[in-house]
Order: sequence, then structure tokens, then C-alpha cells
Amino acid sequence: MILEGKHIVLGVTGGIAAYKAVELCSSLIKAGAEVQVVMTPAAVHFVGPLTFQTLTARPVSIDTFQLLRDTDMAHISLSAWADVLVIAPATANTIAKLVHGIADNLLLSTALACPAPLVVAPAMDADMYAHPSTQANLRVLAERGATIVGPDEGRLASGRIGRGRLVNTSELLAAIRATLGRQGALAGTHVLVTAGGTREPLDPVRHLGNRSSGKMGYALAEAARDMGAKVTLVHANTQLPAICGIEMLAVETATEMHQAVLERVPHTDLLIMAAAVADYRPVQRAEHKIKKDADDLTLQLERTLDILQAVADQRTASGNPGFVVGFAAETQDLIANAQVKLAKKRLDLMVANDVSGSDSGFEVGQNRVILLQPDGKQEVLSLMPKSEAAEHILARVVELWRRA
Ligand code: CTP
Repeated sequence: MILEGKHIVLGVTGGIAAYKAVELCSSLIKAGAEVQVVMTPAAVHFVGPLTFQTLTARPVSIDTFQLLRDTDMAHISLSAWADVLVIAPATANTIAKLVHGIADNLLLSTALACPAPLVVAPAMDADMYAHPSTQANLRVLAERGATIVGPDEGRLASGRIGRGRLVNTSELLAAIRATLGRQGALAGTHVLVTAGGTREPLDPVRHLGNRSSGKMGYALAEAARDMGAKVTLVHANTQLPAICGIEMLAVETATEMHQAVLERVPHTDLLIMAAAVADYRPVQRAEHKIKKDADDLTLQLERTLDILQAVADQRTASGNPGFVVGFAAETQDLIANAQVKLAKKRLDLMVANDVSGSDSGFEVGQNRVILLQPDGKQEVLSLMPKSEAAEHILARVVELWRRA
């Protein structure tokens, strides 16, 4: 939702990757943003302005002087209108000119006049990218606060393999979202989110696991990033793509997750334990594959450590994390069970999750949750996409945290 209604000036420069800006433009529009495309004269050789004009329902701005004629100084009004200026693809030439304040086309003069944050997605031949001039220029832009995204390594227009490809659209969208959220309600905080389900090995080929996909935790991590937080995601056994702009830390077992979380607790302002952590693990992990020699098999299990309980104890000493959110996945007596856990684990907010249905909870993309506060207040959220539920949960976190 962070892109909804946002004013995005999309600068397209003259490189072969300009055609990929069409997909970015379309995705931004679909996400609810208002997009004004500014093309450099060179970009017009690669993609027709009509394509962007049709997608955005706005005339594409190209020529500084043409627009100046109707007394509206395009570069000034565009730069004031923009919530973010995105240049994708950005050629080496445009990057160099941005550094030196050269304003010899409409995009560059808009950039020079623009107080909004800048996202630059370089795309060029590998040697041009590796050239010390380009590297130095990108460093300068980053030092000035620009978000530099990419380039990726892969096959280039020249047929060579190297670094210089425009990053994919999802990565660009993530960079834009994170840049827009830089001054958000969680700016300056460290957020630690756990996601997925831990696995406890039985033998080299088998494990005890659970059905958690990690989607809810990933959505929370992404939403926290979009609110300006520095996010670490400790993820266990998920099949989801890495999230741009956050630190990803893979673990497998409850013990590994326990260690990863407890190590980071002293530097964590907000902890969200969305992971489904195993409560028991096999006492012994067989060195070799267990054979079906016997008619039945009894596994002896032992308790794992409760991470939130350990955090509650450590928290008293250090004060961190300032706010802790737990999840309760239940199939019966949802509220009663979740309330017991809320109190026992000394949480600031509990997200109660009925996982008995098939439309919500494990594996699916949507969730129906109830937020429980320590003072007994309850908030029922209807069935909604996990990304939306994440935004609701974080909005409530921010409100309660500020009040505390
Ligand atoms: N949790 C944890 N460490 C564990 C088990 C769970 O930190 N070893 C966390 C989960 O990440 C979740 C909360 O505790 O935020 C509740 O987890 P849940 O599995 O619902 O409850 P349990 O405490 O494990 O209790 P039970 O299995 O008896 O319902």
C-alpha cells in the first residue's frame, strides 16, 4: 500500500534496458502510484513515448523547451510534484551528469531541482560499469543519499557475460518502496522478524517439521522495511525469494533460531516471532538412514528451548527489545490459549491465528487474525492478504509502542 497515490517521476535514459522500464512503469501503476515518465532524447530511440503515455495516461515529458512554452516550467513543477525520482535504466552518461549537476536535458534539470529521494538503477556494458569513473560517480550518489540498485550480472546486450544488467522489476519496486518509507514510523529502529518453520533432523534424509510457509513473517519484514526500519529476517526452511534491502539469515532448527535471535536481541528494538518453532526434537539424530527393520518405531523426543521465554528473561536485564510480538497458531480455544501465551511470554502484542481452516493461516496468502493486547483489548482483523495484515499489525505496534 505504500505505493498507493504516490507521485513517482520515472526517468528513462538511452540504453537497451529502456524497454524494461515499461514493465516497471506498469507495475507502479498497478500498485496505485501516479507515474510521470521523463525520457531523455536518447531513450526515445529505444522505446516509443506512446507506450509510457498509454500506461500512465499522462503525456511523456522529453523536451525542456516545448513544455516551457505554456509557462509551466516542467523541471520545476515535476521536481516539486515527485515523492521519489527513479532513474531506470540509468546510463553511465546520465550518472556522470547527475554527479556534476549537468542539466542538459529535462530529466537532468528535474533531478537537479528535485528535493525528493533519488533511486538510480544503472544499466550499461560491463566495462563501462567497472570503469573507475562510473564507480566513483555511483559512490558519490550513494554518499549523497541516493539508493543505488544493481546492476545485476548476466548476459549483456553485447552478448558478453558481466555486471551491467538492469535489476529485475521486483527488485526495483522493493528499492522504491524502501526509499519512500525511509522516513516512516519505524525509521531508526532495528527490527528482527522470524519466519517459516524449524525442522528437527531425525536422520540424514528425514526431519520433523511443520506447515509454516513463512509468508506472514516475510510480509511483516517487508512492511517493516517500508516503514523505515533496518530489518533482519531469520528464516527457517522457506521457499520464498529473498527480500531486497533486508538482512536475510537462514537457519534450520529451533536451536539455530534460538541462537540467532538471542545473539541479536541486545541490538533489536522490535522483535516479531512469526516463526513456527518446534517444541520437541528427536533425542538422537541417527547417523545413517533409519531402516524399516521393525514393525513399529517409537521416537523419543525432548523439549526445545522456548525462544520468547528466553527473550523475556534477557529483556529484563538489557531493556531490549523495546517491543515484542508473538504469534499463537491454534486449532481450538484461540483467544484463551493465545491470552495464556501472551501473559506467560510477557509479550506486548499477541497475534492469534486460527489455523484450523483452509483459507487462512498456514501456506496460503491470506490471514484472519486477532490482535490481543496485555490490557485485554482485542482487535479482530478480517480475512485479508498477508501483506495487508502485516501493515495493520505494524500500525498497531507503532501506536502501542509510542504509548508505552
Ligand atoms: N515460540 C518460541 N519458541 C518455541 C516455540 C514457540 O519462541 N520453542 C514462539 C512462536 O514463535 C510464537 C509463540 O512462541 O510467537 C507461540 O508459539 P506456539 O507454537 O503457538 O505456542 P507454544 O508456546 O509452542 O505452545 P503450544 O505448542 O503448547 O501451543
